[in-house]
Amino acid sequence: MAWVRERHMRYPQRNWILLFFGLSLAACARQGTPSTLQPAGPAATEIARLSWSFFGLGTAIYLAVIAFLVYALFRSRRRTSDDENYPHQKDATNVVILGGVLMPAVTLVTVFGLTLYTFRQVAPPAAETAGQTIQVIGHQWWWEVRYPDTTTVTANEIHIPAGEPVRLQLETEDVVHSFWVPELHGKLDMIPNQVNYLWIQADQPGQYRGLCAEFCGTQHAKMAFLVIAHPPDGFAEWLVHESEPAAAITDPLAQEGETLFMSLACARCHAVRGTAATGQLGPDLTHFGSRQTLAAATLANTPENLAQWLLDPDHAKPGSLMPATHLSEEQLDALVTYLESLQ
Ligand code: CUA
Repeated sequence: MAWVRERHMRYPQRNWILLFFGLSLAACARQGTPSTLQPAGPAATEIARLSWSFFGLGTAIYLAVIAFLVYALFRSRRRTSDDENYPHQKDATNVVILGGVLMPAVTLVTVFGLTLYTFRQVAPPAAETAGQTIQVIGHQWWWEVRYPDTTTVTANEIHIPAGEPVRLQLETEDVVHSFWVPELHGKLDMIPNQVNYLWIQADQPGQYRGLCAEFCGTQHAKMAFLVIAHPPDGFAEWLVHESEPAAAITDPLAQEGETLFMSLACARCHAVRGTAATGQLGPDLTHFGSRQTLAAATLANTPENLAQWLLDPDHAKPGSLMPATHLSEEQLDALVTYLESLQ
């Protein structure tokens, strides 16, 4: 029976190992998963405060109910034999009025008041103080981002100035999506034939992950984006650079890639400002090389991932409208070099 002993010895070790990996994975998830409980802007701070108030209130009520339950258990045990004629009927009525009517009324009014207060706090600022407006358009399954009054069009990255409110004009090109950056604000739906507005503010420069919060098709889970908050000067610089057309290509391999891009189907769906590519179906690629991710924050924007994506988009995102291409190794190399050079 040596194996039985061995198993008994091994089990506690295995549990420790599982616990260790579980906690490590939880830590990984934590890094990539934005939390409403770690707010990074005024609106999200108010929402987090409301969540904690509800949690505190719920905990207090739970503890009070448990305390009454424990009290009732011991009390009834003491009085079972001598209490046959219910002489405490009046007490019982009072308990019902207090616990069944007054307490719930006070609790609900408190919750309602706190919610109204939060609504007020996260309301849009007055029109006079309106800062940068950014148009965000949902597509299956990516985000088009436009800066009105400039030529800037980008995708899956929303650059904003830190420390000031930014107005988002939310629309959709197809089905209902929902815009959500948990660290900055609550969710807001993007509804066909309707424009919704949301104000966000990031207190500090940094990156905040956003996601689609309404089921919108098979790749709903792979419809994410980044909000990148710059110091105000950095944002102005970024906007000027993004408004410019693509720089002229000088590298011979990249030039070869550009020729391919224009002759293949690419240019019919994607625009590269300053070139013959003016397609409007897919993301604008004018400064594609400076973006951090591919396919709506599904993959890191690296030459390897881009090559894989061009050959077989369905591998990373089944059902994506991006068609697979049949390129030789040389052609793929040239195309990847061209796209990554679009800084
Ligand atoms: Cu878009 Cu879910």
